[in-house]
Formats: sequence, structure tokens, C-alpha cells
Amino acid sequence: MTRILVTGASGLLGINFSLFALENGHEVVGTVNQHALREAPFTTMQVNLSRHGSIEKIIETVRPEIILHTAAMAIIDSCEKHPDLSKRINAEVPGDIARISKRLGIRLVHVSTDAVFDGVSGGYVEDDLPNPLSTYALHKLEGEQQVSSQYPEAVIARVNFFGWSLNGNRSLSEWFFNNLSQGKTVKGFTDVYFCPLLVNDLACLLLKMIQKPLRGVYHVLAPVSLSKYEFGCLIARQFNLNEKLIEPMSWKDGGLQAARSPNLILKVDKLCRDLGETPPSPEAGVAGFVDRWQNGYAGRVRSMASSG
Ligand SMILES: NC(=O)c1ccc[n+]([C@@H]2O[C@H](COP(=O)([O-])OP(=O)(O)OC[C@H]3O[C@@H](n4cnc5c(N)ncnc54)[C@H](OP(=O)(O)O)[C@@H]3O)[C@@H](O)[C@H]2O)c1
Repeated sequence: MTRILVTGASGLLGINFSLFALENGHEVVGTVNQHALREAPFTTMQVNLSRHGSIEKIIETVRPEIILHTAAMAIIDSCEKHPDLSKRINAEVPGDIARISKRLGIRLVHVSTDAVFDGVSGGYVEDDLPNPLSTYALHKLEGEQQVSSQYPEAVIARVNFFGWSLNGNRSLSEWFFNNLSQGKTVKGFTDVYFCPLLVNDLACLLLKMIQKPLRGVYHVLAPVSLSKYEFGCLIARQFNLNEKLIEPMSWKDGGLQAARSPNLILKVDKLCRDLGETPPSPEAGVAGFVDRWQNGYAGRVRSMASSG
């Protein structure tokens, strides 16, 4: 059993990773901020990471062997509105966590984003030069740089994922599912490509990565890409919902506040080589998403919402 501190345990990745690590025999302590968890099967601690010194106290108290740092200001348009807070949470806090982890000899996996790239050419490998387009992406890149300079042995995982969340509407997959199952029309971007993993598959890969002597940047994504429109159609088909309710459109007509990277196809060869396996495809991920709805997992996650 290993003691793992998961920051952002109320978030989409944090809660799913925490449940998975717990099922796999690890001790989990998760941090939450505004969303306390109800009857979580692991210990939770409240912390506002914007307060200087707050994470130090948590780490000193918990003394974990591993930290998975998922907490972030991860809503892209909120980061445009509140750039100072985004800088603090997405750029500075990772540096603080890396510095303390290095000092205390704690293994650190820091979660970053595919959006550090501008998405002009696609096909990115880990050493390609990032070019963030939004405030969120810029600060996430600065967070990566802080982590790698403070603690070169840390792992930085660039990810994109979907799945069942605490409030039932955090992920793109839930957004498609919720709208389509109510018979509502939605727009699907035909010109934004990505490589999303089911969050539970991502949790499994991250746990394997933690247990191997990896260091540095890894792309931890699906090995094939699709457009957001195609992703919505996959959700519709696998849930037997009406895919004609998804209207194809360009992201440029979507009224978004922050610029989006249109081609976020990232290569995962380094991960496949070092882990000895290929991550699941988006089709397999969506099938797992459907299974988890049918077997009550989605409801179990939602039942932990403190207002639920
Ligand atoms: N979702 C994606 O597809 C995606 C794509 C690429 C990269 N990522 C990265 O993956 C990681 C996890 O993303 P996610 O989608 O799981 O995020 P999320 O669902 O938005 O959750 C964010 C988590 O961070 C916590 N948090 C936010 N501000 C905080 C603060 N000031 N102090 C303490 N905790 C704070 C939240 O706590 P409360 O809710 O309790 O306030 C929550 O637990 C992030 O690093 C994100 O950048 C996500």
C-alpha cells in the first residue's frame, strides 16, 4: 500500500483517480476546495491553493509517498476572466509542489494539458515547441516549466479526458449525453481534433506510470484522434440517442471567449514504448463510459456531491 496525495479530488480526474487507486489497494488522501465530498471512501482535506503556504502544510501533515497534482483552474474561459488567479493556481502552485516534493523525496506526477500546443500542425511529440493560445494554456505551460526546473525527476502528463464527474456536467461527454438524452440540439465542432481518453483509463495509466521509474514529459492520450463532432456522434450511437441532434459547425462560429487549438493530435509513442502498452481508443473509451452509466458507477460518483 502506498500513500497517495491527490490534489483536486473533487475534480473530474481527481475523484476518478482516487476511487481507482483506492480499489487498487492504495491509501488516498484527497484535497478539495469549494466542493466537499459526501461520504467519500478516502480521507479528504479542504485547502485553497491560492493561499501561499497552504499546500506546504498539507504535504507536511500527510507525508505522502506520491503526489498526483490534478488541481487546477481548468475552465478555459474563467482563466481569461481571472488571469491572476489562473497564474497562481496553474503556474505557481505546481512549482511550489515540485519544490516541496523534491525536498521531501516524494514522487510527483503533475497533470498538464494537450492545449500547450497551438494546434496548427498536429502530430506533436513531447519535445516539440509549445505555443499556448489561451491564458489557461500559457499558465499550464509555465506550470510545466516550474515543475521540470524545480524537480527534473517528476513526471509531467499532458492529458485530455472525459468521464463521469461529481456534478454530472463537467466533461464534454456528459454535456453531449445530458443534452441528447433530453432531446436537445447541440453543436459539434468539426474542425477541432483531439485524442480523448476515458478518465478511468487515464487513471489506470497514471497509476502504472507512477509505479515505473519514468521522468519528464509524457503525452497520455488516446492513440487516435477524432473531431468533437465525431466524438458527440460516438456518444449518441453508443447510447442509442439521436445523432441528428448534433449540428456540425466550425469552432470559429461557436462564440468562445478564448482561442482554441484546432488540431490537438499528440503522439503517444514515448508512452507506449516506456509503458509497454497502447492506451485505449476513443471508441473503447466511450464504450467504458456507457458501461459505467449502466452499472451505476456514474451515480456513485454523483452521490458524493455534497449537495446531491
Ligand atoms: N478536463 C480535461 O479534459 C482536461 C484536459 C487537459 C488537461 N486537463 C488537466 O487535468 C487536470 C484535472 O482537470 P479536471 O478536468 O479534473 O479539473 P476540474 O474537474 O475542473 O477540477 C479541478 C479541481 O481543482 C480544484 N481546485 C480548483 N481551484 C482550486 C483552488 N484555488 N484551491 C484548491 N483546489 C482547487 C477543484 O476543487 P473544488 O472543485 O473543490 O473547488 C477541483 O477539485 C487539470 O490539471 C487540468 O488542467 C484537463
